[in-house]
Amino acid sequence: MVGHDGVGIGDFVLLEVIDKDHFMQNLEKRFSGGCIYTYIGEVCVSVNPYRTVNIYDQEQVNKYKGREIFENPPHIFAIADSAHKVMKQQGRDTCIVISGESGSGKTEASKIIMKYIAAVTNAGGQQEIERVKNVLLQSNAILETFGNAKTNRNDNSSRFGKYMDINFDFKGDPVGGNISNYLLEKSRVIYQQPGERNFHSFYQLLFGASDSDLSKLRLKNKVDNYFYVNQGNAASVRSISDRSDYKATQSAFRTLAFSDHEIDTIWRIVAAILHLGNVKFRPDNESVKLDDPGVLDTISGLLSVTNQELRRALCERVIAAKGEVMAKTHNEAQANYGRDAFAKAVYDRLFSWIVQKVNRAINLKDEESSRYRQKTTVIGVLDIYGFEIFDVNSFEQFCINYCNEKLQQLFIELVLKQEQEEYQREGIQWQNIDYFNNQIICDLVEQSHKGIIAILDEACLNVGKVTDEMLVEAMDQKLASHNHYSSRQLKPMEKDLKHKEDFRISHYAGKVTYNINGFLDKNRDALFQDFKRLLYSSNNPTVKEMWPEGAMDIFQTTKRPLTAGTLFKNSMIALVKNLASKEPYYVRCIKPNENKSPVQFDKEQVLHQVNYLGLIENVRVRRAGFAYRQRYDLFLRRYKMISQYTWPNFRSGNDKDGVKVLMDEQGYSDDVKYGKTKIFIRSPRTLFSLEQKRSRMIPGIVILLQKQWRGAICRRRYKKMKAALTIMRVYRLYKMRSYFQALQAIFLNVTSRRDFGKSLRWPNPPLVLRKGVKNLKAIHERWRAWMIIKRIPQEDWPQVRYKVKACDALSNKRSYYGLSRRWEGNYLALNNENSDSVQYNHTINNIKNKDKFKKVLFSSFIKKTNRFNKSADRALLVTDTGVYKLDAKKLNLMKRVLSIQEITGVSCSPGTDQLIAIHSSLGNDLVVALEPRDNQDRVGELVGVICHRYFEVCGRELSVNVNMHFQCKLGNKSRSVKIELSNEAQSAMFKKDGQNVLYLLPLQNSNNLINTKQAMQ
Ligand SMILES: Nc1ncnc2c1ncn2[C@@H]1O[C@H](COP(=O)(O)OP(=O)(O)O)[C@@H](O)[C@H]1O
Ligand SMILES: [Mg+2]
Repeated sequence: MVGHDGVGIGDFVLLEVIDKDHFMQNLEKRFSGGCIYTYIGEVCVSVNPYRTVNIYDQEQVNKYKGREIFENPPHIFAIADSAHKVMKQQGRDTCIVISGESGSGKTEASKIIMKYIAAVTNAGGQQEIERVKNVLLQSNAILETFGNAKTNRNDNSSRFGKYMDINFDFKGDPVGGNISNYLLEKSRVIYQQPGERNFHSFYQLLFGASDSDLSKLRLKNKVDNYFYVNQGNAASVRSISDRSDYKATQSAFRTLAFSDHEIDTIWRIVAAILHLGNVKFRPDNESVKLDDPGVLDTISGLLSVTNQELRRALCERVIAAKGEVMAKTHNEAQANYGRDAFAKAVYDRLFSWIVQKVNRAINLKDEESSRYRQKTTVIGVLDIYGFEIFDVNSFEQFCINYCNEKLQQLFIELVLKQEQEEYQREGIQWQNIDYFNNQIICDLVEQSHKGIIAILDEACLNVGKVTDEMLVEAMDQKLASHNHYSSRQLKPMEKDLKHKEDFRISHYAGKVTYNINGFLDKNRDALFQDFKRLLYSSNNPTVKEMWPEGAMDIFQTTKRPLTAGTLFKNSMIALVKNLASKEPYYVRCIKPNENKSPVQFDKEQVLHQVNYLGLIENVRVRRAGFAYRQRYDLFLRRYKMISQYTWPNFRSGNDKDGVKVLMDEQGYSDDVKYGKTKIFIRSPRTLFSLEQKRSRMIPGIVILLQKQWRGAICRRRYKKMKAALTIMRVYRLYKMRSYFQALQAIFLNVTSRRDFGKSLRWPNPPLVLRKGVKNLKAIHERWRAWMIIKRIPQEDWPQVRYKVKACDALSNKRSYYGLSRRWEGNYLALNNENSDSVQYNHTINNIKNKDKFKKVLFSSFIKKTNRFNKSADRALLVTDTGVYKLDAKKLNLMKRVLSIQEITGVSCSPGTDQLIAIHSSLGNDLVVALEPRDNQDRVGELVGVICHRYFEVCGRELSVNVNMHFQCKLGNKSRSVKIELSNEAQSAMFKKDGQNVLYLLPLQNSNNLINTKQAMQ
């Protein structure tokens, strides 16, 4: 809780009595107790501790990371976290406006915020994000070197305004950034009040650079030598080590990708300015002469321009009039003015150029910005000069104080005015809080025609004619009736205002007297064109790049440039507009004393700041007000899940009723008010506990949503699958139907076709029918077979079977195999074949009884040859069980040679001879020639019978070799059998030919033999 640190009260809103005394008491108590941060609601009041406080380490970071503001003791971390959280969660741009007077701790605060953001982002350790963070942090070192200086109020006072945008991706990691700089106090380059210093860069160079580097720049490390840095007489400062800062600056240059040449040029320019401060002029008639021409060489060398051109630019100016170009020599005052203006302009341009370079290192690159388009959100951090009152206040203070008026106005707009107006709009009972609205002072400065800047601009138009003194008169005239403007002329009693020199503005933060001297010059901010051309002509490309307008032709009449005052005003208006578009967070810095003391609490000085910052009004508004408000519809949508009456939807009334029901049920009724369109919640605690309850409900809801969604996806997929299946089914049916229709058309008259459709082409079946069509084809085959077979008498069927087998084995291989003949099979049982058929049948019956075969399938007289090449006449018998040899004369059994299973193949010739070999696994093949009575070819029949029976018994096809010569085995030896034609043979005969067997055929005019002969050729 905010009060956790136990020192005073952590949030001023919780003070019992809200008045000046109680406010101051609490602030002092906390300051002396070491608590430098105190809230006003979400505004953080920070008192400069002027000592190292140990509250910024990693442990503290962890404590604040992702927490609500009121969970921990007040800390600037909580503000940074809040800005980051709102940006990340709601995708809204936010900004942190840090205000307070010079030395109150704004710049420190901005650095602490940046470090915090760097510490809590990039959990993934991405390289590019690390780089961006590093550049963002390091950029501070460079900007402070060139833009900060020791003043009497702050050893490290920012002499420029800085607004930094940090771009974040959707995960909340920084991916880029942009820095805008506002009005550098460049008069400091040439002049410092006693006790003050020029910008740090000059001292860092003199004290930090090596002797050899210094001698290249023709410098000595003696500050007293150089007029531009020795006027304040405060070169060394206890809290500053220029030497180590120089090193840090150099290393930051490298991190930010400045090239060696660029770094070198930067220091050359700084050195050139130091030397320029020592340029002195002596009057010489109408013109001037240089006191020490040697210094000119040094400067021209450093800036890479010619000595001559530099001298001319310093001592005269070129004027173009009526088409002629003339050189006009300077008098001493003009030459001094020109030199100083030159020094200021060079430094100012250098600073802006450095900011540009830094931006180039952190700006979102083009491809990144398109990648992140619409996805990046921004946190802006504004650290701008605080309200300033010096002994002598000039144009710079005028601008700075105007800037603070604008920011105060924004604060009023956002925090005080809008808040009260909203209560009124919503009809919430409300006691209006009085506060001072500084709009009237902003108008005094910036109004067109009537405002001070407008009067200044008007005076600047009349070059040379109007003096500063006349300017005061003009203002007196136009602003006489303005309550916040005065001068000696208007208020003669105010003796401390100098006549015709001073004017006074009653700022919201206090009265400031401005001295008019120099206002016109500073507003006009003129630099002779000659200098611009000089630097544009530099041989150093970096110098040239800084001065592009030097390219302009001398005759080119340009529009009068905008004055410094108007430029500043425009940039302030743009800045305020930019800030107003973001969700603002405020850090209000307070300076406890003028002495940089960690213990002193200067009541008067602090009260003054508390008053002008409007902190007490802030507390009153806040206290009377509400921590949180939200439209009913949005509120209900966010929290409806925590009440059973509103979840999942509130049905009995409008959103407002729903919100009331919810808050009543949860017991928050006392802490809320109901406006017309919004609910107002007084204490952050209520909001916190609403959030907690919501977080507890979320996981369940997520699971519910996931469940529903998964279900929906599955149902959708299931429906699709079912639809697909239906489509597939219907399509399959359609394909099948069309296929059958096509088949029907093709096979329409199949019965009347001669081939019963054998030659008809079946169309390609669809996938689904591929198997079925195979069966269908088989059925068709069977049907076709039946149609053929049924014409054959049944007793011929066995013969047909053999013929089919013979066909399979011999067609296209053997010229003739007796298909046209009737195949009798058991020829020896026929009388005309075998005269002894009675004896034969008798023998067969004997064997049948003994060997238990059923039927003689084939019988024939044969001539056989054996392993001794002896040929003999025999009879051959093939039964359903095996092959038998019979004696040819007696026709009695000699022996069963083979069983059907033992047969391994059959060989025969392609001709019409009677040779046949029945191979077996027993080592003794049967090599025989059939000897039918009428010399019919029965080889085909025997092959058909054996093959058929073999298939029946063994279930596979027997191999049939058809050739003019083939191998066989006789007595376990391999022999080759050859067929030859021979004159020697009267009839077919076997003959020995060495180890082989010849089967000789007579060369007579015999049909059968001629066929064999033809086959042999
Ligand atoms: N939070 C802090 N912790 C320690 N010292 C601080 C802190 N804030 C400011 N200071 C001291 O005050 C000095 C001035 O602060 P700075 O931020 O430069 O003021 P401003 O920017 O408002 O002019 C710093 O140089 C530092 O010494
Ligand atoms: Mg500062």
